[in-house]
Amino acid sequence: MEDKARGRADAARHVVLGVTGGIAAYKSPLIVRAIKDLGIEVRVVMTEAARQFVTPLALEVVSENPVLWDNFQSPLSHINMAKGALALIIAPATLNTISKFSSGIADNLLTTLFMAFRGPVIIAPAMNWRMYDNPIFKDRLAYLKDKGVVEIPPEMGQLACGEQGVGRMASAERIVHTLRRVIGANDMKGLRVVVVSGPTREYIDPVRFITNRSSGKMGLALARVACLRGGVVTLISGPTSLPSLSDISDAEVIRVETSGDMRRAVLEKSREADIVVMAAAVCDFKPERFIEDKISRTERFTLDLIKTTDILAEVSSHRNASKTPYIAGFAAETGDRKDRAREKLKRKGINMIVFNDVTAEGAGFDSDTNIMTVITPEQELSIPKMSKEDGADRIFDIILSHIKGPR
Ligand SMILES: Cc1cc2nc3c(=O)[nH]c(=O)nc-3n(C[C@H](O)[C@H](O)[C@H](O)COP(=O)(O)O)c2cc1C
Repeated sequence: MEDKARGRADAARHVVLGVTGGIAAYKSPLIVRAIKDLGIEVRVVMTEAARQFVTPLALEVVSENPVLWDNFQSPLSHINMAKGALALIIAPATLNTISKFSSGIADNLLTTLFMAFRGPVIIAPAMNWRMYDNPIFKDRLAYLKDKGVVEIPPEMGQLACGEQGVGRMASAERIVHTLRRVIGANDMKGLRVVVVSGPTREYIDPVRFITNRSSGKMGLALARVACLRGGVVTLISGPTSLPSLSDISDAEVIRVETSGDMRRAVLEKSREADIVVMAAAVCDFKPERFIEDKISRTERFTLDLIKTTDILAEVSSHRNASKTPYIAGFAAETGDRKDRAREKLKRKGINMIVFNDVTAEGAGFDSDTNIMTVITPEQELSIPKMSKEDGADRIFDIILSHIKGPR
């Protein structure tokens, strides 16, 4: 995805970041850096008020571009900057500037640029919760959104004024995610994608369970990429310690615990899906019976395990002529056991299996990278070591090439 964003950025070169006069302006250099990490150049426009919170010098140094705040600093900059930019992002966006945007007021460089700009506009409001909740402001914001401006809603938390409430600017991570989605390829637009991720827990008694080492990172990467490419995504996730799934707030997230919960959610959600990707590590075994009271410590305890339902095989067998989702599964093996993955593909009657050796260096459960082989009945393609997100992109490239052709 980075490569694609970079490619498009080369064509259009830059985004404009508008910084307005709220406390959160002190975070704007981090946003510049996060956008630049995508390989996209950033040009910063500030308001006069923003200069009270962050210096133009700091933003000039991180962006490696001159920073403008006055219409008369560089004549016609509002038109020239508006022409070439991939997107206009305002972060933080004050109540004042958002209200001006919605009224067509062009009294400074940023508001004039906004009126001249024809590309996607993203705003990340940041303000006290009382201001964000103000009915006049809500109307102004709704009007702008109705005109196509993309809002990254603020988060709940401790505000600069010391109060708790919804008003904290979205994280740089969420801002970058939204930017990528807005300028993305959109080649999965409208496709309903179900991604199943993470481990399951199989309870022995109310306090103990069996689980596995799945971190949920691969599933999260798949869900994130499908969102960025315009898919309508449902992420069904077992318990993971990932800090938050909030940067994919445009996906439906269903949290489950046991293989039974996961099975129910997957069967229900896959009914209407176009693509189902099962990246979850469902426990293969569960205790034969659940013991209602906490088991006391004894010298020896024997646990009888039975196998859990094969969710992937069940989804596959439920496919009918009227609705046939494309089904991809993952085979996590220890060692180069592609033979087992091939056998799994056949046995489960699915369209694709993604083999990975979880013991390989740079692959497996908690790693940020993966090494995979995509196996379909027709072909085998290796995906060398790369970030899980880039790997997810490759997987969807292959799935799309199959969906668009005869299946
Ligand atoms: C200390 C301080 C903090 C402020 N924080 C915010 C804020 O977080 N959000 C906001 O909308 N306005 C905030 N304001 C008010 C704006 O600075 C004020 O509305 C200003 O006119 C905004 O100008 P601009 O939209 O051109 O940047 C704050 C003002 C002060 C003095």
